[in-house]
Amino acid sequence: MYVVILAGGSGTRFWPLSRKLHPKQLMSVFGGKSMLQRTVERVLPLSPKRILVITNRLQAEETRRQLEYLRGVRIEVIEEPVGRNTAPAICLAATLIARHDPEAVLAVLPADHFIRDEEEFCVTLQRGRDSAQNGYLVTLGIAPDRPETGYGYIEAETELRGSGPYPVKRFVEKPDKERALEFLAAGNFYWNSGMFLWRTDVILDSIAVHMPEMARAFSSIAFSPEIWESADLAPQIEAVYAMVAGESIDYGVMEKADNVEMIPANFGWSDVGSWNALPEVLEPDNDGNVIIGSPETIVADTTGCVVSGSKVMALLGVRDLVVVDTPDALLVCAREKSQDVKKAVEELERRG
Ligand code: GDD
Ligand code: MG
Repeated sequence: MYVVILAGGSGTRFWPLSRKLHPKQLMSVFGGKSMLQRTVERVLPLSPKRILVITNRLQAEETRRQLEYLRGVRIEVIEEPVGRNTAPAICLAATLIARHDPEAVLAVLPADHFIRDEEEFCVTLQRGRDSAQNGYLVTLGIAPDRPETGYGYIEAETELRGSGPYPVKRFVEKPDKERALEFLAAGNFYWNSGMFLWRTDVILDSIAVHMPEMARAFSSIAFSPEIWESADLAPQIEAVYAMVAGESIDYGVMEKADNVEMIPANFGWSDVGSWNALPEVLEPDNDGNVIIGSPETIVADTTGCVVSGSKVMALLGVRDLVVVDTPDALLVCAREKSQDVKKAVEELERRG
């Protein structure tokens, strides 16, 4: 099995701690290791043949630096000249791997998700590998607990009993609120975790069927077999990326394919989508506060706050706030408005 780690996210949601050069996957909000380092370490028990980390040119240097300590592990950091969403990143990885091992199973994993039970995670991936081997596009599904509109939904064909895999009737990426409520009520819908397993040839064939222009762009390049060491790699990737349009694998392939299977994931998952999600994944104190960084911070008569910074801080008589202090920026935000941090970053970018 090969592992492909998608690590090209842009780093707007955890501003001001995350930045373009240092997005969420390179942060260590959980103390110690970064989310990327944890993602890599988590798959090591599966002894992958090779791990490909697909990232943006801007983040490549820091990505390599963070992975230096894993010397004995075969990791390739592949740079994209620009982010074009997940479909090109996956197509690039599959194209490179196909040069070596055209029928290998790939596990495609986001670099910035939280997973509680790592052993169960490995067991689930192994189960997924078997189903992928049989020619399915396998997604790991999460039992939904709210009508989230930021996720993909997977409708399972049969009533769910046991551990799967289940045939998938349809895959709906990011429905509106009304449909999300319907899906939640129906009971046989799961969230797409964004973690996939498939055979290299199966995903490349699927891209050729559903995204023929992307397939054409990639097939125009004659990657050499010893591509990992090749000096030609960067210019070749650059040439392909000048041709391809941005698209996610969810819209580009998963919504259209009819050979999808789903395996329910019971390992405790969060995509840690915003500051608001931190209390789900870090242990809050008895008042529901999560304090990162500054142990001297004083909180009194304060509940449900997420606080990060290295100065001594004091929060008195406040509720459900996010307070994040960095040397050059400060965020004070109602927790329920955490998604709007992205808008603030966009506004800052507009102003230059
Ligand atoms: N290399 C690379 N290049 N990686 C990328 C790029 C890119 O251009 N764009 C995104 N990624 C990485 C992100 O860093 C993340 O790890 C992963 O790909 C998914 O991208 P997101 O942008 O976070 O996707 P999403 O959250 O909108 O939706 C996906 O994830 C949901 C679960 O978290 C979809 O798969 C949904 O269906 C799913 O429910
Ligand atoms: Mg995401």
